Amino acid sequence: MRSVEVVMTGRGGPEVLDVRERDVPAPGRGRVLVRTEAAGVAFSEVQMLRGRYLNQPRFPFVPGYDLVGRVAAVGEGVDAALVGRRVAAMTRFGAWSELVEVPARHLVPVPEEVDAGEAVALVTNGVTAWQMAHRAARVKAGDTVLVQGAAGGVGTLLAQFAGAVGARVIGTASAGKHDALRELGVEPVDYRGDLASAVRRLAPEGLDAVFDHVGGQGIRALWPLLRRGGTLVSYGSRSTLKDEGHPLRPYLPLAARVLAWSLLPNGRRAKFYYVRPTATFRSDLKTVLSLLRDGELDARVAHRLPLDRAAEALGLLVDGGVTGKVVLDA
Ligand SMILES: NC(=O)c1ccc[n+]([C@@H]2O[C@H](COP(=O)([O-])OP(=O)(O)OC[C@H]3O[C@@H](n4cnc5c(N)ncnc54)[C@H](OP(=O)(O)O)[C@@H]3O)[C@@H](O)[C@H]2O)c1
Repeated sequence: MRSVEVVMTGRGGPEVLDVRERDVPAPGRGRVLVRTEAAGVAFSEVQMLRGRYLNQPRFPFVPGYDLVGRVAAVGEGVDAALVGRRVAAMTRFGAWSELVEVPARHLVPVPEEVDAGEAVALVTNGVTAWQMAHRAARVKAGDTVLVQGAAGGVGTLLAQFAGAVGARVIGTASAGKHDALRELGVEPVDYRGDLASAVRRLAPEGLDAVFDHVGGQGIRALWPLLRRGGTLVSYGSRSTLKDEGHPLRPYLPLAARVLAWSLLPNGRRAKFYYVRPTATFRSDLKTVLSLLRDGELDARVAHRLPLDRAAEALGLLVDGGVTGKVVLDA
């Protein structure tokens, strides 16, 4: 079978993406070929463009963190009844392709009623947001939480999950996105300027949870905003995108700080979160997809472009004007 795919050919801007065609071999043992309906575009691919994503393959490679599609062929040892089934998977790399080989055990069924673009917006980001809200911080009714980047792919979902249990959500975004945050029931704050003072004015009694994907110096000012029993969840290091050297380096001081906070006897907790394709991931993705099917979750797809316009799609995230998720239709 022939497949069109998008190749990241080297470091640079979105212009380094190239659209190619290749023959796809039959899937290996325990694996399936999925014909992609929609694939996600994420900030991780911006990091990959800069060579700043941990464990990214050597250039050239096909990026693409997640997909929704239909099983087109199965390898040895996989139930042939899977052919034709609608599925989702978190691939980390490789999803920007019409045909993608995936381990069969990573597949999650996708309800026929939901739109593929909306479903794919929930694969990595939905589970990340769900697990941070419900497993890492255990947000509950009456809590006050701070969501950094609340207009982003993860942030729009995290804000909804926290709001759905009855928490008060304060969210950061650039000023142009504050109306979109209010629509989601979020109290907006600009992350530029003295963020800690602005949040303290809104919530002088302190916060029950802080979700931060920025790291750097800024996260140090957020820790004292937590009240007793509160949890800080660190899940990214956006502030170090332009650093040079090994991509792990910026995470070391952040890891040391989070570890120190978590060990200090101060009545607050600090955690790292990293999404992994485990059985819990698959179970949480089923839950999140069922919320979409039942109309209880807004997937916030901001832009949809065809696969062969991936460079344009990634450019939208590089430029930073997006509220919600960017999706590629294959
Ligand atoms: N640990 C994990 O398992 C995991 C999983 C998924 C994603 N992530 C991380 O989560 C982050 C968000 O991913 P995404 O795909 O949702 O990205 P995204 O759609 O680009 O959203 C990121 C948001 O961050 C905001 N932002 C930019 N600079 C900021 C700053 N200095 N302070 C606060 N907010 C700022 C942007 O808002 P404006 O446009 O208004 O500036 C943007 O809306 C990324 O860092 C990604 O690597 C981690």
